[in-house]
Amino acid sequence: MRRSLWQTENIMMATRAQPRPERAEPAKPGEQARDFEFTSADFARIRELIHRSAGISLSDHKRDMAYSRLARRLRARGIDSFRQYLDLLESDNDPAEWEAFTNALTTNLTAFFREAHHFPILADFVARRPGPVSVWCSAASTGEEPYSIAMTLIEALGDQAARQASVLATDIDTQVLAKGEAGMYQFDQVKHLSQERLKRFFLKGTGAHAGMVKVRPELRAMIRFEQLNLTERDYRLNTQFDAIFCRNVMIYFDKPTQGQVLSRFEPLVKPGGLLFAGHSENFTYVTQAFRLRGQTVYELTRDAGATRTAHRAASHGATSGVPA
Ligand SMILES: C[S@@+](CC[C@H](N)C(=O)[O-])C[C@H]1O[C@@H](n2cnc3c(N)ncnc32)[C@H](O)[C@@H]1O
Repeated sequence: MRRSLWQTENIMMATRAQPRPERAEPAKPGEQARDFEFTSADFARIRELIHRSAGISLSDHKRDMAYSRLARRLRARGIDSFRQYLDLLESDNDPAEWEAFTNALTTNLTAFFREAHHFPILADFVARRPGPVSVWCSAASTGEEPYSIAMTLIEALGDQAARQASVLATDIDTQVLAKGEAGMYQFDQVKHLSQERLKRFFLKGTGAHAGMVKVRPELRAMIRFEQLNLTERDYRLNTQFDAIFCRNVMIYFDKPTQGQVLSRFEPLVKPGGLLFAGHSENFTYVTQAFRLRGQTVYELTRDAGATRTAHRAASHGATSGVPA
């Protein structure tokens, strides 16, 4: 009997995470009828805390979003007011609550082959690189971006060479990382991919998982998911990468934070390596270590070694008040 190539019982494997459909939704007008008092002082405190812990600069118009996402934490903890919740957060130093607070305030919008023009550039680039290729996806969200990178590596290098390749997928948000690790998606999220990609890289869910797909084990095996906060001073990465993807996360950081992140990226890029940025992110005025190659792809400047020291000194000077 002929069986569809991407229909298999493997899709039934358990997952650790469930999608959080509410994450991408804007605040609803109905949220004006609030369960909890939410003052300007509360919002100012939240902004200060999330900037300190994740580098995220929350703009004024995120006020309703902050309320609705954190109100769930108050309900979960049985707490009556934002002031009490924020006091608890600051005084208890409870890592689990800090994690929940951070997870609640991140924006995780992503998609397979988002900003598609980058992937042929990556394919072309890795095909000419010597040795095993390694790519770091530094704001991986729910996994669509690192899986798109891994698919591109397989297509560009062939199955055998791609087995030597690796993708490190990191994010600050532990909930999205769990979703990425599980590698299960709604069929709607992949329906725009070619039949060839669907057959080669995904398994189709059956039974309880009908309407879902799961990435094939060989694709999953190329990726290591880990939590990493880009605003940490030391990333503890003892390796260099042929390419770093840092797309659509710097927009949430202010310029000093962007400068610090880029100065930490610089020694992590192999000579001749590339840095991929999001469509609305421009690093030209933030760093001298990278220059624009075109199409929001950056490369190390030739004198990066010389500018490294100067830039580090400058960015450390700019860090005051922004814990890393
Ligand atoms: C809008 S998503 C972008 C996802 C993907 N890079 C893309 O372009 O489709 C931004 C991601 O950055 C992550 N993020 C925010 N602050 C971060 C930080 N300080 N360190 C690491 N990741 C962070 C969020 O959790 C979120 O998953």
